[in-house]
Amino acid sequence: MIKLQDLTVGQVSGIIAAAVFVVQILVPIALPVILLGLLRPRSAAATQTAVSWSVIGRFLHSSLWPLFVHADSAATFSACKTAIFAVFFKGFILALIAIAAIVTPLGLYDGIIADGNPAATVFNYIKDTSPMGYGTPPRILDTTWSRLCGDFLLVPCPNDYNNATVINNNTGIYTDYEADWYDSRIPPNVVDVFQSGIADLEQSMSSFFDIQYRTYMRTLIDDKGNGPVIDNATARTVGTYQPLSSMLLNDDVIPIEGLIVDMKNGGLGFRNHSAPTWRKYGSTWVEDITFIVPETVCVDTNLTLDFMIPRTQTEYLTADSEIFRLEITDRGGFVNLNTTYPAYQLGDVQGNPNLWYRAYRAAWLRNAYTMAYMNVTSLNNGTTGDRSFTYLDSELNKTFPLYFPSGEVAPRYSIQPQSLSVVTRFGDYLDGTEGVSNVSTIGNETTTFDFESTLPLYPNPFDISFTDWDSIDTLCRGQGPSDLANITHIIAKCGVLNGAPRRNDGSASILFDPGSSWTMPMYTCISTAKATIRTVKFQFNGTANDLSSLKVISSVEKTYPDDESKPLWGVEKSDMELRNGGPLWGIVSEEKAKTLNISTVRSESLYLPGRDATIKWQNLPAADFASIALQMAYDTGSVPTTQNPVDYSGKSNLAMFKKWQELSRDPSTSAQILNLIWTDIAANLVVGTKGLHEPENAKRKRDGEDTSARRTPSVTSYTRRVKYHYAYGIPAFFALALAFATLLSTIYFMIFSGAKPSTMRTFLQHTSAGRFLTAQSSGSALSHTTHSSYAPPSQQDGYSNAPTKIWLSGAGKHEFALGPEGWMKNAQGAEVHTAKGGANVSYAPVARS
Ligand SMILES: *[C@@H]1O[C@H](CO)[C@@H](O)[C@H](O)[C@H]1NC(C)=O
Ligand SMILES: *[C@@H]1O[C@H](CO)[C@@H](O)[C@H](O)[C@H]1NC(C)=O
Ligand SMILES: *[C@@H]1O[C@H](CO)[C@@H](O)[C@H](O)[C@H]1NC(C)=O
Ligand SMILES: *[C@@H]1O[C@H](CO)[C@@H](O)[C@H](O)[C@H]1NC(C)=O
Ligand SMILES: *[C@@H]1O[C@H](CO)[C@@H](O)[C@H](O)[C@H]1NC(C)=O
Ligand SMILES: *[C@@H]1O[C@H](CO)[C@@H](O)[C@H](O)[C@H]1NC(C)=O
Ligand SMILES: *[C@@H]1O[C@H](CO)[C@@H](O)[C@H](O)[C@H]1NC(C)=O
Ligand SMILES: *[C@@H]1O[C@H](CO)[C@@H](O)[C@H](O)[C@H]1NC(C)=O
Ligand SMILES: *[C@@H]1O[C@H](CO)[C@@H](O)[C@H](O)[C@H]1NC(C)=O
Ligand SMILES: *[C@@H]1O[C@H](CO)[C@@H](O)[C@H](O)[C@H]1NC(C)=O
Ligand SMILES: *[C@@H]1O[C@H](CO)[C@@H](O)[C@H](O)[C@H]1NC(C)=O
Ligand SMILES: *[C@@H]1O[C@H](CO)[C@@H](O)[C@H](O)[C@H]1NC(C)=O
Repeated sequence: MIKLQDLTVGQVSGIIAAAVFVVQILVPIALPVILLGLLRPRSAAATQTAVSWSVIGRFLHSSLWPLFVHADSAATFSACKTAIFAVFFKGFILALIAIAAIVTPLGLYDGIIADGNPAATVFNYIKDTSPMGYGTPPRILDTTWSRLCGDFLLVPCPNDYNNATVINNNTGIYTDYEADWYDSRIPPNVVDVFQSGIADLEQSMSSFFDIQYRTYMRTLIDDKGNGPVIDNATARTVGTYQPLSSMLLNDDVIPIEGLIVDMKNGGLGFRNHSAPTWRKYGSTWVEDITFIVPETVCVDTNLTLDFMIPRTQTEYLTADSEIFRLEITDRGGFVNLNTTYPAYQLGDVQGNPNLWYRAYRAAWLRNAYTMAYMNVTSLNNGTTGDRSFTYLDSELNKTFPLYFPSGEVAPRYSIQPQSLSVVTRFGDYLDGTEGVSNVSTIGNETTTFDFESTLPLYPNPFDISFTDWDSIDTLCRGQGPSDLANITHIIAKCGVLNGAPRRNDGSASILFDPGSSWTMPMYTCISTAKATIRTVKFQFNGTANDLSSLKVISSVEKTYPDDESKPLWGVEKSDMELRNGGPLWGIVSEEKAKTLNISTVRSESLYLPGRDATIKWQNLPAADFASIALQMAYDTGSVPTTQNPVDYSGKSNLAMFKKWQELSRDPSTSAQILNLIWTDIAANLVVGTKGLHEPENAKRKRDGEDTSARRTPSVTSYTRRVKYHYAYGIPAFFALALAFATLLSTIYFMIFSGAKPSTMRTFLQHTSAGRFLTAQSSGSALSHTTHSSYAPPSQQDGYSNAPTKIWLSGAGKHEFALGPEGWMKNAQGAEVHTAKGGANVSYAPVARS
């Protein structure tokens, strides 16, 4: 059903034209009926003057009534060919015009079209009125970057102002500073180098130093506390994390204060939002934006955790947990494990970080250690001469219980039904299976506690311990604390993603009915982050002149014509160990890169270098935030803390749980989960401060920035135009063509065929009913003998040729009566016409000269 509000202006015009057309037909049909009624008020016969009959005749014959009642004047086919043609041609062209009148407006529509050529315009800051903008604190103008290096003792950072000798001998690390204070500032020439590459790129691009913490505080805290005074005891700015709003369930690319948040694929674009002057019909433009995007790869361990929801109170009590009969099921992770150790050398990490292989290695090691722990196979632990994988005590779908014979579930806290969790301890799921003894021996003393001992669930013949489990993390991430802070060591986090449980019966239900059986996939994942450049198309179109009107239409990786045009990324090269801090990075220019010790790579993107950073320590958000957000993302499912207050497990949000349940069906979509969590955390953690608008305060202008040469993008503005679908114009076009042909023929016939007005008058007068009547009556011998003398016999009917004026005042006034049978006749067979004033009639022959 078409509703009224669905109609366009064109369609309404068409309907009006159709209605007018119908009325135009109906009224001329109705009026003759009224006329007939008026003509015969009382008697059966109507008596009117001859001229009235002419007018009445014209009125009646020009209506559709002759057609309806099959009158003479409608017997077109019996007429001469010329008349047939004229009649049908007229009918056809009128019908065509009627159709054109209705159809033509249907083609009209409102079009929004580009208004002229794209042009550079002034951009103005646009405010974010959402919770994100409302909650973001203002930028403080005197914020300085601060960099503090050191593990448990402050050591000088590479390229900083501090001068100290650092002695690292058997007894520990010793530092001796030349000055009495530790200078956390970064020298301007170093800042300059790491943003030098931006100058050649678009104005919209952000550098390392255009990224700030969204929330921050001024602190004096030096939790190492054993070095020199930091910055002469003046407060330094450090970042804090207090989430504002979650965008996790928006499947969209969302602009928020300081950022473009890609909640489809994960990633943050840095931009302090500005837009050209507000236009009613919108404007679009394209910008290159610096993005930092997470990259995650997950590998299936081919083991699942299966459990049931307790059915009875007894089951609930014996399990002592929300779940019952928790067990590991071998879905190929044990039986089909490749028995070759996956050896790996870090190669060109920036070119190919080999994330899949790293994650696979973690899965392989975890499965192998689990097998050894459960004595499913043998492992060469270095001391015994045994070879690994000499036996295999498993088969497909074999289950390995994680509950004691009493029914008590061993891993007490780490596995919960209504949530997805990510853990970084690879042996986490075997926690508790080692059993507890009620006898403890310390030295000579033996204490017995008042509870029943539980035997270990698995023999652990190869002594798999936490050092083995922890080694998986280092092997997966490819870095340890004593590696150097350089371009090779990228931010990475590894862990196990326990997918959101789903029903064992394959249904999509998210209801935890008692007795229902659930399965939980386990994937090992590695996540890292890379800086890249995306080409973003914006549209500024809406009712308000604020951020709600800004839309990101598309954001795609920037394409480069050749290798030379790719950005040059630089990473600080030093002999600082990662335990002391991470390196600086940025887009650099070739000349400036030579002034410092930095490694460069020309590529579309840079895997961010660094280590597990801590918040509230230094003010270098671009170096730290990606790692901080990764650590928080890999803490999903644990008890929320002040460090990580948001619960991303789905436990406190059923919609999120459902989303996780769908995404954790296979490893590749599970990677998306971690990317999205990272993006949501990072969006609450940082902002981009670079925008296309003039900075509020000229003081904030950085050294060397040339404001006169602001390179703003070309903006396409839109405007409204009435547009037309030409197909609807076809009837009108034909009507026009026919009208034109008619016009030409008319001119032709007027000039060459004597179709002149005088001829027309003759034809009209000779076909007029009144003239016929008077001519007939004058020609009859009955009456008007007086008249006969005025006209020669041969022209007795010629009275009809008298000019209208003369005829009107003469014969035209004669009255004629029309009865049901036709013209009423007297006894002599002549029409009755009352010769009222007939004596006055004078048919003047002069007029016919
Ligand atoms: C280590 O260096 C410190 C400071 O120079 C010194 O006091 C200490 O004796 C050294 N220890 C050894 C074992 O060399
Ligand atoms: C600390 O104070 C000294 C003089 O007292 C001054 O020379 C130095 O620049 C100050 N350092 C900082 C980081 O403010
Ligand atoms: C701007 O919004 C209006 C109303 O929603 C829409 O008709 C128009 O097409 C939009 N402009 C552009 C360029 O898409
Ligand atoms: C699990 O199975 C998949 C598909 O067969 C395979 O690609 C993957 O390497 C296996 N995982 C392990 C740890 O063997
Ligand atoms: C087992 O792993 C080794 C090394 O990773 C590899 O070369 C080999 O092709 C794998 N075998 C199978 C059957 O996948
Ligand atoms: C481990 O399994 C092997 C083979 O099944 C068996 O010979 C050995 O006794 C088991 N070790 C322990 C400690 O259970
Ligand atoms: C342990 O026992 C030995 C001998 O029985 C005794 O010499 C020693 O002092 C005892 N140590 C402690 C801590 O009781
Ligand atoms: C210690 O555990 C054992 C084995 O379960 C049990 O037999 C014994 O009674 C327990 N001792 C105490 C004091 O509960
Ligand atoms: C290796 O396994 C044996 C038992 O088979 C155990 O005694 C030994 O401590 C283990 N060595 C290491 C380094 O784990
Ligand atoms: C980075 O440091 C490691 C040592 O930790 C070294 O092996 C590697 O070659 C260094 N990479 C570069 C690019 O200097
Ligand atoms: C760069 O580092 C190397 C070795 O670490 C050093 O020899 C060289 O002097 C450094 N160059 C600069 C410009 O700092
Ligand atoms: C963006 O720029 C405006 C105007 O200069 C400023 O008020 C605002 O704080 C900036 N926002 C961010 C996130 O830098």
